[in-house]
Amino acid sequence: MAQSVIHIKQLEKKFGNFQALRNISFDVNPGEVFGFIGPNGSGKSTTIRILLGILKANGGSATIFGKDVWQQAVQIHERIAYVPGDVYLWPNLTGGEIIDFLLKLNHQHHSARTDELIKAFELDPRKKARTYSKGNRQKVALIAALSTEAELYIFDEPTSGLDPLMEELFQSHVLELKKQGKSVLLSSHILSEVERMCDRIGIVRAGEIVETGTLNEMRQLTRTQITVQTQHSLDPVKILAGIHGFTPIPETLNKATFAVDTSELNHVMVVLAQQGIEALQSMPPTLEDLFMRYYDHAEGDDSHEAK
Ligand SMILES: Nc1ncnc2c1ncn2[C@@H]1O[C@H](COP(=O)(O)OP(=O)(O)OP(=O)(O)O)[C@@H](O)[C@H]1O
Ligand SMILES: [Mg+2]
Repeated sequence: MAQSVIHIKQLEKKFGNFQALRNISFDVNPGEVFGFIGPNGSGKSTTIRILLGILKANGGSATIFGKDVWQQAVQIHERIAYVPGDVYLWPNLTGGEIIDFLLKLNHQHHSARTDELIKAFELDPRKKARTYSKGNRQKVALIAALSTEAELYIFDEPTSGLDPLMEELFQSHVLELKKQGKSVLLSSHILSEVERMCDRIGIVRAGEIVETGTLNEMRQLTRTQITVQTQHSLDPVKILAGIHGFTPIPETLNKATFAVDTSELNHVMVVLAQQGIEALQSMPPTLEDLFMRYYDHAEGDDSHEAK
């Protein structure tokens, strides 16, 4: 198998006594869009800052293109483009000047593509950065990153300040990068975005990766919501393993709604069929359901911030 573009193993980071990252491990493969999701304060940006060589890890290892992210940051940066979570710009430069400056830092030039991106993202490049809204600041960083020729693109919540049209535009550009065989690490809170674009997903909670896999693999861990009407009684179904929240629908006979563990779905369907299915509706688990499963136990993530 080709070497991973990003390889992270048991990464740890402490801020004073606070352990922000406990155990982060995941790989991003060549040509893959990897979605990095998790609640606020779970450690996404910290992981990304370590990858960018901005923060030094306290334990574990992280490499990009097989190079150590702290020791060999210069060589790595020649081959990556990124948009940080909080975009800070030089207030007295215009958006256009900053885009060109960011490109130069990456040994790139302002190209026809840069102009196309400025136009598509509807950015006025003549305005000073201090006058830009959060969304506009994000656009400046996005335009610079997207007009950079790189092998790996790292985006930390790139669409948090963008309106839905711009979000869609960003997504189409990421899909384009994917077509070109580039690798992308994308942290996001927008589950539909992750669902639409990512080949694989890592879920982080309280500084630990709690799940990694394709959306399909993750769906195996969740439940499908079923509403069914049968000819005969649903009593034999109600008591099956893997059935949750069985609720008969009032004023109907043999009609109910319930959730089924995906692993038990086959068996449940067999028993349902024996009762004579008259109507059946099923709703597949969404990434949101999956996410809520982890979020439900996520309290305390930010507890030290409340002080
Ligand atoms: N420089 C720092 N000093 C102290 N604590 C920090 C520092 N940077 C981050 N933290 C803490 O580390 C934890 C992880 O923060 P991080 O920014 O990585 O979260 P995140 O997953 O990116 O969250 P969000 O979704 O809100 O962007 C948080 O509890 C945060 O308060
Ligand atoms: Mg963040």
